[in-house]
Amino acid sequence: MKIEGTPYRSVWVDKEDGWSVRIIDQTRLPWALDFARLTTVAEAAHAIRAMLVRGAPLIGAVAAYGVYLALRADSSSAALERDAAMLKATRPTAVNLAWAVDRMLAKLRPAADAARIRLAFAEAGAIADEDAAMCEAIGDHGMGLIADIAARKPGRVNLLTHCNAGWLATVDWGTALAPIYKAHNAGIPVHVWVDETRPRNQGASLTAWELGKHGVPHTVIADNAGGHLMQHGEVDLVITGADRVTRTGDAANKIGTYLKALAARDNNIPFWVALPSSTIDWTISDGVREIPIEERAASEVTTITGRALDGSIATVRVVPSFSQAANPAFDVTPARLITGLITERGRCAASAAGLAGLYPAFA
Ligand code: MRU
Repeated sequence: MKIEGTPYRSVWVDKEDGWSVRIIDQTRLPWALDFARLTTVAEAAHAIRAMLVRGAPLIGAVAAYGVYLALRADSSSAALERDAAMLKATRPTAVNLAWAVDRMLAKLRPAADAARIRLAFAEAGAIADEDAAMCEAIGDHGMGLIADIAARKPGRVNLLTHCNAGWLATVDWGTALAPIYKAHNAGIPVHVWVDETRPRNQGASLTAWELGKHGVPHTVIADNAGGHLMQHGEVDLVITGADRVTRTGDAANKIGTYLKALAARDNNIPFWVALPSSTIDWTISDGVREIPIEERAASEVTTITGRALDGSIATVRVVPSFSQAANPAFDVTPARLITGLITERGRCAASAAGLAGLYPAFA
């Protein structure tokens, strides 16, 4: 997607040296557009853990490049297994991370040590390119939902999304935002309610930033405002992304997504989840019990970071110094609350039968 007219991806190989991996440092957005260079597997793991990159598809792609960077230092089988395991442990909920590392391992295990770096470079590039293509296809398949609403209702189509599931969370296009970009590009008048998404504010800092840079009308709301807006007819459609979807259609996503699904159900508003197939965990059926939920640092809840009036970036404490804080980073929306799934192969019911219809080889 474009930033002020210049096309970007969220991860790419440096064009000048031809081997190092470049990323946008998302911890600096929306205050600064800074880039970072990854040259070692330790730097790739740090970028994922410290959320310089985040979003399920993007951390999968960066982990794949992390395997490639690991092999540049040591292409032995022992090092491959050790570094792959280390990368997989960086974040637990998004299944794209393990999926990408396992795909790299399947390609690299049988190869001779000397061939591994070249193969890893090509495979990581293929994972990144395929992710961009899958997300664009999600946009094409999801855009019809927005077009249908526009056809029967005058004025703008009001969408609501949670967290950041735009191009910054993937390699390009995004998942939940891809249909919105496609609709906007096609001239359909869209407006997006952007949940701020405490505690790390991915909505306020990332979704709002990338929508704004693309020219999509949007309004940031406090996380608790969505239900009220739905009750008053201000939301036509909810689309979120996902970090892991079970074979039965339960979807883990950023904490707070489940509450939006409940509010949408109470108000008869369609609630869709957009995901590439790399987000589906075919091995599990019960999302609430089986999806591991990342517990992040309490400091993400007790503090908030922003730009002070003097222009400096400041982190301030917002809860009493004696209070404890808990920080579960994801929740699971049961399939029964999801109107449907938008994938690169089309739309389907959030159910085992729905997913099996699109992916018969996996089900
Ligand atoms: O913790 P994050 O920022 O990596 O979590 C990302 C999300 O949960 C997003 O909501 C997103 O939908 C999943 S990735 C497209």
